[in-house]
Amino acid sequence: MKQQDFENAIALLIQEDWVKPTVDLIAADMQMNAGHDLGHLLRVLRNARRIADGEIARGEAVDWKVVAAAALLHDVVDLPKDHPDRSSASRQSSEKAAAHFRALGAFDEAKIERIFHAIEAHSFSAGIEARSIEAKIVCDADRLESVGAFGIARVFQVSGQLGGGICDMADPFAEHRELDDVRYTVDHFYSKMLKLTARLYTPTGRAIGGQRHRFMETYLAQLADEIGVPVREDAAEPVSS
Ligand SMILES: [Fe+2]
Ligand SMILES: [Fe+2]
Repeated sequence: MKQQDFENAIALLIQEDWVKPTVDLIAADMQMNAGHDLGHLLRVLRNARRIADGEIARGEAVDWKVVAAAALLHDVVDLPKDHPDRSSASRQSSEKAAAHFRALGAFDEAKIERIFHAIEAHSFSAGIEARSIEAKIVCDADRLESVGAFGIARVFQVSGQLGGGICDMADPFAEHRELDDVRYTVDHFYSKMLKLTARLYTPTGRAIGGQRHRFMETYLAQLADEIGVPVREDAAEPVSS
């Protein structure tokens, strides 16, 4: 996705003087890869808007500018999965975002704190619980990227690039072996994707996630039928809503 197309698309979601310099920062500094590019940021921002609308309708007071600012910069520092400092990437992103917005004078300190927290709490590996509604929305919006139709497309694309196969034809649903999602992409549904919806924070995020979760179950049932084996159902966690 080109930077100009990205700017046009996000102008429908947020119009503030700080958007343009923030997009410039992303274009200059963010390490783009298949999972993390401008398209990812746009989808996270759109997910966040849907969740924010749902939460506002439920009576939550949501600061959309804080959500949008955090969503735009949540992956500005993105380290590879095998990097030793991987678990501190979200912390480094929040520090970079805080310095950026402080230099622009775009937000007061209280809001910069909220943006900081929303970014640092978004990653699983950081192990930080999201406390504010804005942080919960950014987390959920980012996690929703990994499930549903897009999540399926994305997992096959990313694991294909890393040399992973589609599934283990001898035991496609890992019923008689340990899950190995580096070798077999279908294993990733059971090691991660089907567990994500239970880990969403907001009721609106869980409603969207539940629908995407059911789509993945339908996909796996179809896959099982096509390759002629029964689908493994026990590994999927029930969706709480
Ligand atoms: Fe991230
Ligand atoms: Fe992300």
